[in-house]
Amino acid sequence: MDVKLGRVVITGAAGNIGPTVRSGLREDADHIVLVDTADVEAEGEQESAVKAAVGDRGALVEAFSGADSVVHLAGVADEAPFDDLLDANVRGTLNVLEAARRAEVPRVVLFSSNRVTGNYPIHHHVFPDEPPRPDGLYGVTKVAAEALGQMYADTFGLQVVALRVGSFEERPTETRHLATWLSPRDCVGFVRAALTAPNVNFTAAYAVSGNARRFWDLSAGENELGYRPVDDAARYAADFPDDDPFWHGGPQGGDFAGPDAVLPHLRE
Ligand SMILES: NC(=O)c1ccc[n+]([C@@H]2O[C@H](COP(=O)([O-])OP(=O)(O)OC[C@H]3O[C@@H](n4cnc5c(N)ncnc54)[C@H](O)[C@@H]3O)[C@@H](O)[C@H]2O)c1
Repeated sequence: MDVKLGRVVITGAAGNIGPTVRSGLREDADHIVLVDTADVEAEGEQESAVKAAVGDRGALVEAFSGADSVVHLAGVADEAPFDDLLDANVRGTLNVLEAARRAEVPRVVLFSSNRVTGNYPIHHHVFPDEPPRPDGLYGVTKVAAEALGQMYADTFGLQVVALRVGSFEERPTETRHLATWLSPRDCVGFVRAALTAPNVNFTAAYAVSGNARRFWDLSAGENELGYRPVDDAARYAADFPDDDPFWHGGPQGGDFAGPDAVLPHLRE
């Protein structure tokens, strides 16, 4: 397929997932703009780097000028004090969406999280249109980020895809990953599909590899984005005990869920 991605902005390009997305888009993008508060070095003429916080709406409008899409990864990626989560994940996402609207960028891909539904029990197969059940404050801010995306799609016609990312790792490193793993190859596959799928208004889809033990329905990704993941964590099943208590029941968020995970951040 002849894929043209044009000019793409990646926020949070210096983080854990950024480099994988960056190299996965390089072949078909005319130009990639790398936005982060941390140092990130542009390579050659195909890339440029902008040191900016997603709190700085003006800087975002400038960085987004002339772009065809924004892949928004920047944020606080785990449980943290609520003010930090609100600033980075909620206000930051609002700024990204608003900057995209002002700069007339047609499409934004939001990196949401499986943790928006992390309090569903592990034996429940979740569809993306089921009510959120966030497993903590981080998940709550990702629910809000998705809602902002839906509002911008409905109100302003911005094309928004929210990818509910599983556990992005080179390979599974704990039992829960047999359900939640997102391989680097599938991560790139989901992002490319989110950037190129036709007829997008607002789509929320789980971005997880095709793990036999996954908790989440993949039909939104397949039907609306046209991507079916190729990897399966089952390949690594022998690395983990069959009788791990994780499989006996409890929230899909595992150790990320429950009072011990949330309470430390309610004490400040
Ligand atoms: N890693 C995972 O398995 C996973 C799972 C689900 C969802 N996600 C989501 O994917 C995205 C990327 O995750 P990651 O693992 O690469 O996270 P990360 O923490 O490694 O990277 C986040 C990047 O965002 C930047 N950043 C943070 N606050 C910023 C701000 N205010 N302005 C500009 N840049 C800022 C950081 O400097 C960092 O480079 C996050 O939104 C995260 O919530 C990740």
